Amino acid sequence: MTDKFISIEGIARRYPGAGGGTTTVFEDFWLSMTRGEFGCVIGHSGCGKTTVLNILAGLDEPSEGTVIVDGQGIEGTSLDRAVIFQSHALLPWRTVLGNVGYAVSSKWRKWDRARVRAHAQKFIDLVGLTGSEHKHPSELSGGMKQRVGIARALSITPKIMLMDEPFSALDALTRGTLQDEVRRICLETGQTTFMITHDVDEAIFLADKIFLMTNGPGAVLAEIVENPLPKERGRIDLHRHPYYYALRNHIVDFLVSRSKSFAAEVTEHDPRHVPTVRPGVGEPVIVSPPRVVEPNPAQSVAR
Ligand SMILES: Nc1ncnc2c1ncn2[C@@H]1O[C@H](COP(=O)(O)OP(=O)(O)O)[C@@H](O)[C@H]1O
Ligand SMILES: [Mg+2]
Repeated sequence: MTDKFISIEGIARRYPGAGGGTTTVFEDFWLSMTRGEFGCVIGHSGCGKTTVLNILAGLDEPSEGTVIVDGQGIEGTSLDRAVIFQSHALLPWRTVLGNVGYAVSSKWRKWDRARVRAHAQKFIDLVGLTGSEHKHPSELSGGMKQRVGIARALSITPKIMLMDEPFSALDALTRGTLQDEVRRICLETGQTTFMITHDVDEAIFLADKIFLMTNGPGAVLAEIVENPLPKERGRIDLHRHPYYYALRNHIVDFLVSRSKSFAAEVTEHDPRHVPTVRPGVGEPVIVSPPRVVEPNPAQSVAR
């Protein structure tokens, strides 16, 4: 499990600042993911999450450092990397089948119409939109539009799927259903996925690794938390798992306090927390192993 399918190596993003200086959004940012892993980034607004995702997508470039995907440096956008944004970004004049088919024919330009349609249909079925192939985006609910976005992304069998807060505009029920779908599909297809979210429970449910970013400017990736929950976990009974509260508290504590004070912090081992290892400056992040955490009986009973 040490092979790096995605490797972000010491990247920084700087902009010209007011008065001739520079503003550093983030710097010395390292992370790696193995093939098939699901990674979620959490951090406060403005810390640079979307910028990191755009760099992975090839829509933006780092001011320093490199990003390697499957052994190759990123140069511009590619059909190897599919992006799903918060808003669905579908072509309004095309049907569901037309939107997914368009992506398929962009990737496999020599395929005939029948082959493109059959391939697109497979992914429309996978996201549960069978029967809605001929609808236009204006006839679809928000959740259905995001499903088309997911089908379109998966249909080009990308090396990575990049998702920028894909469910944040949806109501809670739809969001939950889509989280279930995405988890099922990613496990079934072994899809490597990098996702940004504001929702701690979404990250705990979906992610193998949770990346915690400090506040900007000058943000860094403070911790990589390895999810200690078993692969076979349900969204509804997530909170019943004995490691759940320790993990959730650790992330919430980070967001509430340590994301601001991180630079000055001396990391001490606290057995109540899921331990993580802080990256040394300029070195790749070390991922901590999951540890057994004592369940909190009061919380278990309360639920
Ligand atoms: N063209 C730009 N010039 C200067 N600063 C920028 C520019 N584009 C983005 N930024 C800054 O980069 C920071 C990170 O933005 P973003 O990646 O969108 O954050 P997040 O997704 O975490 O909310 C923001 O503080 C934003 O002001
Ligand atoms: Mg953003």
